[in-house]
Amino acid sequence: MKQFFTVVAFILLTIAFFSGYSNFGIPQIEPAPPPKEEKLDLGSMTMDQFIALGDRIFQGKGTCTLCHNSLGRAPMLGTIAEVFQERLKDERYKGGAEDLEAYLVESLVEPSAFVVAGFGKKGTNDAESPMPNVAAGSIGLSEAEVSAVVAYLQDQAGAEVTVEIPTDVGETEEEDEEEAREALDDPKAIMAQFTCDACHMINGEGGEVGPDLSKIGAAYDRDYLRRALLQPNADIAKGFEADMMPEDLGEQMFVSELEVLLDFLVELK
Ligand code: HEC
Ligand code: HEC
Repeated sequence: MKQFFTVVAFILLTIAFFSGYSNFGIPQIEPAPPPKEEKLDLGSMTMDQFIALGDRIFQGKGTCTLCHNSLGRAPMLGTIAEVFQERLKDERYKGGAEDLEAYLVESLVEPSAFVVAGFGKKGTNDAESPMPNVAAGSIGLSEAEVSAVVAYLQDQAGAEVTVEIPTDVGETEEEDEEEAREALDDPKAIMAQFTCDACHMINGEGGEVGPDLSKIGAAYDRDYLRRALLQPNADIAKGFEADMMPEDLGEQMFVSELEVLLDFLVELK
């Protein structure tokens, strides 16, 4: 019996030793930093990261480069730090901004507060901007995303970045949806996904950079429309400019989405 207790005691001691050793003796391995898929933990972001986020939104989700590019559809923004003063003094200025940051935010969410001369919607004598409110509709940037874009624009223009990184915002989803996206089967959702409405009007809603599509199905057949989407520069709609429609829709869209969209467009009569 004594032997039995000795063995049990030995076993217990051994277990105690090893569990103690593994808890205290072996150095704890630091968990690896989360993979770089950008969890938007704004609280721990540096300003450089916040500006880089603004850059990505500018090129991506914000769709800004659809218009703000070298084709002259919209003003280039690199000199905004110098020219915004003149904007504020202009008699056509209807906004309430007093500094660059406020002017930029206003330009994003209330584009018609000031319309840069020569860039207004056709026929409005520069009273209305063709730029959509990027915090609403299909672009729908969150407040934090607008701030990030403004920080990026200030940085790009060589101005002091006055934006503060917001701390109390919910998650800002970034566009890893691109990879993991599932095919959409609702034409409205597809058009929202590809921000067609930033440029096209349907039944009174949308932009005027491209032709009104409200009756497009009466004017053209499916083959023409397919070509208009896949090779936008093959036929240029009268009165509109080439090189405006995104040219890579064919690569970005699922085949099924293209067909759903065409089903929808041919019925617009
Ligand atoms: C559909 C085309 C279009 C899109 C998309 C667009 N813009 Fe614009 N933007 C314009 C046009 C045209 C103007 C000039 C008319 C005006 O002042 O509103 C303009 C004006 C501006 C101005 C004021 C420029 C100045 O010189 O005063 C800023 C700032 C700006 N855009 C930023 C952005 C940002 C940032 C995005 C993306 C989040 C964006 N825009 C998306 C067309 C667009
Ligand atoms: C950045 C602006 C822009 C975006 C975004 C855009 N388009 Fe266009 N689109 C244009 C312009 C400008 C034209 C006219 C020039 C041309 O025919 O290429 C056009 C032409 C068209 C035409 C041919 C119209 C005609 O009368 O010949 C169709 C159809 C069309 N777009 C559908 C779409 C759909 C659907 C989407 C979204 C998947 C889309 N566009 C996104 C600017 C845009």
